[in-house]
Amino acid sequence: MAKQIILTGDRPTGPLHIGHYVGSLANRVALQDECSQFVMIADVQALTDNAENPQKVRENILELALDYLAVGIDPKKTTILVQSFLPELFELTCYYLNLVTWNRLKHNPTVKLEIRQKGFGENVPAGFMIYPVSQAADITAFKADLVPVGEDQLPVLEQTIEIVRKFNRTYQTNVLVEPKALVPSIGRLVGTDGKAKMSKSLGNTIFLSDEADVVAQKVKGMYTDPKHLRVEDPGQVEGNPVFIYLDAFDPDKKALEEMKAHYQKGGLGDVVVKKRLLDVLQNFLTPIREKRKKFAQDPSFVLQILSEGTKKARETTSKTLQEVRKAMLLDYKF
Ligand code: TRP
Repeated sequence: MAKQIILTGDRPTGPLHIGHYVGSLANRVALQDECSQFVMIADVQALTDNAENPQKVRENILELALDYLAVGIDPKKTTILVQSFLPELFELTCYYLNLVTWNRLKHNPTVKLEIRQKGFGENVPAGFMIYPVSQAADITAFKADLVPVGEDQLPVLEQTIEIVRKFNRTYQTNVLVEPKALVPSIGRLVGTDGKAKMSKSLGNTIFLSDEADVVAQKVKGMYTDPKHLRVEDPGQVEGNPVFIYLDAFDPDKKALEEMKAHYQKGGLGDVVVKKRLLDVLQNFLTPIREKRKKFAQDPSFVLQILSEGTKKARETTSKTLQEVRKAMLLDYKF
């Protein structure tokens, strides 16, 4: 049987955090052995809301690649590529735009939420409005079967599936492949402040590249159960970010269950629980930080990885584009 194909990506707009790890990076590292995996540095998508900030996007390309390599995405197993060097993707986007209604785009829940979060008001860049179509091009160009994404990206993936069906129906073909989302069972990781989402703009993140003292400071300041005032008080575990992180990262599940029971009963202070979380996080982050520093010493080596990956990726995207053009009767023999 042919290997399953995976495509996923990130906008190079800032460092990745432990929420990205739980949401998608962990799956990518786990699946790279058995699948044929492509990971995209989505610089063109980053520009949809950073047109005035090209320098920021450019700088973060290397930073993102360093985060990938640091968590164990292995360029021998995974093809890492840079979106803007694959013109086929933008041609595909153009064709797909005719298969999507403006009304459907306006009602995409992910896009609606991001418009609110970014404070665009009435002034949403058109490129941003259509990014789900561009993402459909990313995914279908590689004929991806699986897309590891966080929960919040599900409506975007749903739109890809609609485009695939419409394309194949309209042009009576089976060129495009319907992808499946791969969402982690643990769900999205809340911020250190207990708010719904870990996000750079909310200042509630722990970055994969944070130094040890920064991690310590962030864990110390974490929100817990506000009603757990004295050590003797019973504490709440559900929705408590310290326990949510322990659930995600503590390898000793048995000790964790005991700790939860003790906390709920009363008699276990936040300081002790946070100390455990800090140990767990440092154990997880220290090797990542060290690996990242090692790669950061040799940026030209990292750029070489991106260049080779992009070249390899282009073999796939140009083949798909040819098939798409043929299905659309655009294969004129001049
Ligand atoms: N939109 C994704 C995000 O914000 C990033 C992304 C770009 C992506 N292209 C992709 C994700 C293709 C999956 C597949 O996280």
